[in-house]
Amino acid sequence: MIFPSEKTIEESYVPDYEKLYAQVKEDPEAFWANIAKELSWFKLWNKVIAWDYPYARWFVGGQTNIVYNALDRYQKTPIADKLAYIWEGQDGTVRKYTYRQLNEEVCRLANGLKSLGLKKGDKVSIYLPRIMEQIIAMLACAKIGLVHSVVFSGFSIEALKNRIIDAEAKTVICADGYPYKDKVIECKKNVDEAIKDLPQVEHVIIAKRAGNQITTNPGRDIWWDELITKQDTICSTEIMEATDPLFILYTSGSTGKPKGVIHSHGGYQVGTYLTLKWVFDIRSDDIWFCTADAGWITGHSYIVYGPLLNGITTFVYESVPDYPDRGKWWSLVEKYKVTKFYTAPTAIRSLMRYGDEWPKKYDLSSLKILGSVGEPINPEAWLWYYKTIGREQCPLIDTWWQTETGMFMLTPLPSSPLKPGSCNKPFFGVEADVVDANGKPVPVDTQGYLVIKTPWPSMLMDVYKNPKKYLETYFENEALNINKNNEASFSNFLYFTGDSAKKDKDGYFWIVGRNDDVIKVSGHRLGSAELESAFVAHPAVAEAAVIGKPHEIKGESIKAFVILKHGQQPTDTLKEELKKQVRTLIGPIATPDEIVFIDKLPKTRSGKIMRRVLKAQELGQPLGDTSTLEQ
Ligand code: WTA
Repeated sequence: MIFPSEKTIEESYVPDYEKLYAQVKEDPEAFWANIAKELSWFKLWNKVIAWDYPYARWFVGGQTNIVYNALDRYQKTPIADKLAYIWEGQDGTVRKYTYRQLNEEVCRLANGLKSLGLKKGDKVSIYLPRIMEQIIAMLACAKIGLVHSVVFSGFSIEALKNRIIDAEAKTVICADGYPYKDKVIECKKNVDEAIKDLPQVEHVIIAKRAGNQITTNPGRDIWWDELITKQDTICSTEIMEATDPLFILYTSGSTGKPKGVIHSHGGYQVGTYLTLKWVFDIRSDDIWFCTADAGWITGHSYIVYGPLLNGITTFVYESVPDYPDRGKWWSLVEKYKVTKFYTAPTAIRSLMRYGDEWPKKYDLSSLKILGSVGEPINPEAWLWYYKTIGREQCPLIDTWWQTETGMFMLTPLPSSPLKPGSCNKPFFGVEADVVDANGKPVPVDTQGYLVIKTPWPSMLMDVYKNPKKYLETYFENEALNINKNNEASFSNFLYFTGDSAKKDKDGYFWIVGRNDDVIKVSGHRLGSAELESAFVAHPAVAEAAVIGKPHEIKGESIKAFVILKHGQQPTDTLKEELKKQVRTLIGPIATPDEIVFIDKLPKTRSGKIMRRVLKAQELGQPLGDTSTLEQ
């Protein structure tokens, strides 16, 4: 156990976790209501929380807009002249935005979007790389009540297309292209391809980044700069119900189709605001560096909304950690005097491999707190991060949460004693447990299903256009035998996370990994079924099964078992073609590491592929229950 210094404890917002946790447990509604009052509301709620199985609705009757709290309310205060963002491009260009300038840019784009006829409730797909326009676009949509659906810029045509279709987006915001190491990624081409048969998309707004040649479709395409040039820097903020949707973010699950996770204006703002503040002990002079991309939930909650709700300065770097050299991130920490740094284990593991000489070149003494997210962090990487980057002086915060939870759920605080590799304990108002298939808590140090037993404000509202999926994934999951009921009380609340975990004798949680068919490659969430359909889309492939295998740097890597159609030859060229196919359909993050050609896949009698059996065989582990396996 690693104990924080007395000073850290004394200075933090919550010096005594256990005491406050017990207190909040007595009356979580009062706790969240008090926190919510730290933000502005056009109208206060009638009910803090309403439970209508399986939906929890927060701050019902309340009216607000997350952008009012993120930008508007500062405009007549000194925060208006404070930097909201410092952005550095791969080429060294720096762009700085005060809260006032950011607000003006957001207003101009919001007015531009209105001029295109977009109205409250319309959906906008944002397919932008890590440039300031990505953040501005999200805020501009939210400000006028449009629902944004950000698609990570590393996704390819099919993935983009499916997300645009599912979200019913009328407008797509993209870039011409963007620099990625020594290349220019021509992302506008992907958009053209994705929407060529989609009349639903009336407009494409193009932000200029790379300056590459693009083709434009007159009447449909419009340059961002042209759209905003005559727009006013004032735009009124739409009054939203607390339970109105703020965004849809697609995430992989155990079926082939990514789920559109919906978050609200009201509850989501309360959850992200407080968790960032207390967990990273946010102070007004912080320089916050979260290395994620706003295309993922980590970016939504902790690059865009959480930091703005706390009025701090966020630093954003356009490129990857080791470009142009392996010390890039550390040089940025020194240059901008970053105080709080939040990244993913996969990055830590690869930077650790490059050796200590890179971080040693730079002065990292501005750092006060370090964070990790996205997958379990192995103790070796944890200790390297803690010692080499944190000089053994920065609390290392391992935050467990999900796209669905919107906010940190299991996490240490700066005042918590730490165990390398554990994500510590539940945040205030959150009850978590590890249970068996009957929903009963398992003994100490025993693996089971990680579940959440209380609703929390930034809980997903639904799966877009698929309430059945919502119910069956998070509440009536087939892994659980228990029957749910519709009682209007929380006593039966059991949210199924899809993760397996253990709890130790001190009540610390240790995440083992997913218990469904989700693979975490470098912290990115990919569904086995989604990958398999990309293989099967190739004319030579009859069937495919995909599993995740432990990988030293990436956490997990993708291995595919492929059955070819009759007469097809299992050649290396075909393997390369298949890899390319998956990259094109889903994106480079989904590139399989290994492909093997086989004749038969283990299946249940009803024809479902038993990936669990393939995985156990691959890892030399016991096969488990094979009674349903077709022989
Ligand atoms: C995994 C990312 C261990 C977990 C914010 C979860 C983690 C999934 C941690 C959600 C952590 C996230 N330790 N595992 N600190 N944080 N995970 O939706 O399997 O991209 O269910 O959200 O990431 O991934 P998502």
